[in-house]
Amino acid sequence: MSDTLKFRRDEDNSMIDSRRDDIVLKTLMNDKFMEFIEEQREPYQELLAYYRCAIMEMETKFRVLNEQFSLQYDRNPIESIKSRIKSMDSLLKKIKVKNVNLTLQDIENQITDIAGVRVVCSFPEDIYLLYDCLAKQDDIKILEVKDYIKNPKPSGYRSLHLIVEIPIFLRNEKRNMKVEVQLRTIAMDFWASLEHKLRYKKDIPEDILRGLSKELSECAETIARLDYKMQMIRNELSPEEHIWKLPTLY
Ligand code: GTP
Ligand code: MG
Repeated sequence: MSDTLKFRRDEDNSMIDSRRDDIVLKTLMNDKFMEFIEEQREPYQELLAYYRCAIMEMETKFRVLNEQFSLQYDRNPIESIKSRIKSMDSLLKKIKVKNVNLTLQDIENQITDIAGVRVVCSFPEDIYLLYDCLAKQDDIKILEVKDYIKNPKPSGYRSLHLIVEIPIFLRNEKRNMKVEVQLRTIAMDFWASLEHKLRYKKDIPEDILRGLSKELSECAETIARLDYKMQMIRNELSPEEHIWKLPTLY
């Protein structure tokens, strides 16, 4: 056998070995996780129920703010609210990636987006308006702020992300729960849902995917300019509502 051929064979074998190790590790981890969930069935279900309560509390806070602005300005800053509990599949993926210990305590401490609330606003200023109102409330703690509007992701993704700690009041205790809040405009949401679909399409060749990603990131710029223009039009139509200066985002 020629040296080149042998080299190829060795390379192939080592790739197969590493892929097999990968699969074995994944299966082992899946088994361990399923075993853990089985053992912890009741406390795990209880924890998920607490997250659902935290989502309810968080949604109520946004609904109350929406109601107040509707009374004051005859306008709703919130278009829609979508909430979700992280699926078991994506929870397992994150536990693996972040190498989290398989205890409910560690999962609760380290995975901060088990409960997610997405608030879709009409205009970019509404995002900061809601953020500001939320930040003033003394029963919640904002643990983290990621402003992907000021600093968009390389993909073009824009939204304001918060990790919020919110109390839920149970029969005999108060429990602080973490919720990830994503605030974005209708336009940002429109872009993100299409980009998300593309990212999970597995059958697109690499070079085409690269081209599409570039186009999508250009679309994100166009959408940001559109959001800004719509904001300016709104401000001219109702200057009395323009109490919040849009930061120099664009
Ligand atoms: P995680 O460990 O997944 O939380 O990574 P991270 O903290 O770097 O990400 P971040 O919390 O900032 O964003 C996670 C969530 O934002 C995702 O679950 C998506 O909902 C959304 N997101 C972030 N980047 C993109 C993107 O490029 N495209 C789309 N469509 N959504 C995104
Ligand atoms: Mg995150």
